[in-house]
Order: sequence, then structure tokens, then C-alpha cells
Amino acid sequence: MAAKWTLITGASEGLGVEFAKIAAAEGRDLILVARQADKLEALAETLRTRHKIAVEVIPTDLSDPASVEALWRRVALRRHIDILVNNAGLGYNGPFSGPDFDRELSSVAVNVTALTILMKRAVGHMVAQGGGRVLNVASTAAFMPGPNMAVYHATKAYVVSLTEAVAEELRDSPVTVTALCPGATVTNFARDAKMEHIALFRILPPARAASVARAGWAAMKRGRRIRVTGLVNKLFAFSPRLAPRRIVTRIAASILK
Ligand SMILES: NC(=O)c1ccc[n+]([C@@H]2O[C@H](COP(=O)([O-])OP(=O)(O)OC[C@H]3O[C@@H](n4cnc5c(N)ncnc54)[C@H](OP(=O)(O)O)[C@@H]3O)[C@@H](O)[C@H]2O)c1
Repeated sequence: MAAKWTLITGASEGLGVEFAKIAAAEGRDLILVARQADKLEALAETLRTRHKIAVEVIPTDLSDPASVEALWRRVALRRHIDILVNNAGLGYNGPFSGPDFDRELSSVAVNVTALTILMKRAVGHMVAQGGGRVLNVASTAAFMPGPNMAVYHATKAYVVSLTEAVAEELRDSPVTVTALCPGATVTNFARDAKMEHIALFRILPPARAASVARAGWAAMKRGRRIRVTGLVNKLFAFSPRLAPRRIVTRIAASILK
């Protein structure tokens, strides 16, 4: 049988780097994907030296669906991908009525389209190979509409819904699909999304990326469908079920300002 590989998207920064370190420490061979080739190469070299594993770097712009399909064809050729971490993602904080649309469209392309293409290809491949695990990085944003981050919240609601549905389809198979739902976490995400100033990032100290990644990795290994990290985030994710949707949306608006 072909060697088993772990494919991690968004491995140049933040949570993706932490997932790569965890997988490498388990002795797994890795394929690292993002746009910043220099950062991927530097991480790959560190992990090769430290853990004596094979690491391939494939710089890819995941906002282009054709590039995502080409990436999959390249990685799945003669290889068994037994773990896919669909981590790459981006957001944008600003009113939907505003002029800045490129970043919102990119977030749909990366958070939704690329994630769906890779998950679709990986699940088919894993079922044919007799096993595998997919970890989709969603967010607590999935559990409520997000005024001022409307597109981002909608993309993450999609990720959780897709994950739960496919997990049910795969209930009796050796392939599992998990959605990780972190709250605010220390990475470059907030700066890039122009949301460092908002209440969500000021009310509580953001979580450390390493501990969020460890929790997600463990949940994936156990085949859990959804993992919300942190007690406050669990309340944040659960409480919208108790209140009318309109009130939930109003409260969300106040913490996303
Ligand atoms: N940080 C938080 O507070 C938080 C909370 C909940 C959920 N999340 C989710 O966690 C995941 C990881 O984010 P992070 O917090 O680690 O943020 P980050 O530090 O900004 O990292 C984002 C990663 O996504 C990659 N990426 C973005 N656009 C891409 C594109 N077009 N093509 C390929 N790769 C692309 C970036 O790589 P390049 O720039 O090199 O392409 C980078 O490696 C995301 O899905 C995010 O929605 C984050």
C-alpha cells in the first residue's frame, strides 16, 4: 500500500502551523498548502530536521477552484491521504453594504468552495482506501448570524452543516468528518479580518493557537462530529438555541462592532 500522508491547508500561519507540528510529532508525512511559499518551506525544513519525516510544500491559491482541483490531482497520485485538515480560511469585518467585496468573495471561495472540493475528493479517496479522517476548521461564528461579518458567519455555518450531514452519511464507514469550532484565538486572523478592535476580541483573552489545535486534533482522532473549544465558547455556541433568532442576531451585532 502507498505511504499515508496528512494534507494541511493554511499551514503558513496560525492554527495550520500548530496542526503541522502535532502531525509531525506523531511521525506523519505531510503536505503543506498555502500561498506563502517561503513560510511553508521554513516550517517544512524545521519539521523534516526535527522529526525525520517527509514534508512536501505545495504553494496554492485556494481561492481558485481550478487550482484546488489541480492540487488534489497532484497530491492523491500514488499516495494515500489518510488525514485532511481543511484549515485555510479568512474573514472580513465591515458592513455588507460597504464597497469592499473582494475579501468577502475570497472568503466564500476559500472557506466554502475550496473546503468542499477537498473534502469531496478526500472522502471519496478515503472510502476507496478503507479509512481516513477529515478535520474542517469552522468557528463559533457558525452558530449565529454575524452582522458586520455576515459572509464569514454564513461560510462557517455552511462548514458545520456540511460536516454534520456527511458525518451522518459516513456513520457506518471507517471515514470520519469533524468540525472544529474555536472562538477568538491568537493568530493573524483578527488583524487580517480588520476585527482586532471589536468587543469579541476585547471581552476575553483569546485562546492560544497550540491548545486549540490540540483539541481539534484529538476530537478528529476520536471521530467526533463537532468540537467547540473552551467553556465560554460552548455557552456562546449553545445559547442561541434558547433565544429568538432576532435577539441572538442583535446580541451578535453588539460583540462584532
Ligand atoms: N483566529 C481566530 O480567532 C479564529 C477563530 C475561529 C476560527 N478560525 C478559523 O481558523 C482557521 C485558521 O485561521 P487562523 O486563525 O490560523 O488565521 P491566520 O493566521 O490568518 O491563517 C490563515 C491561513 O489561511 C491561509 N489562506 C488564506 N487565504 C488563502 C488562500 N487564498 N489560499 C491558500 N491559503 C490561504 C493563509 O495562508 P497564506 O496567506 O500563506 O495563503 C494562512 O496559512 C480559519 O479557517 C479561520 O476561519 C480562526
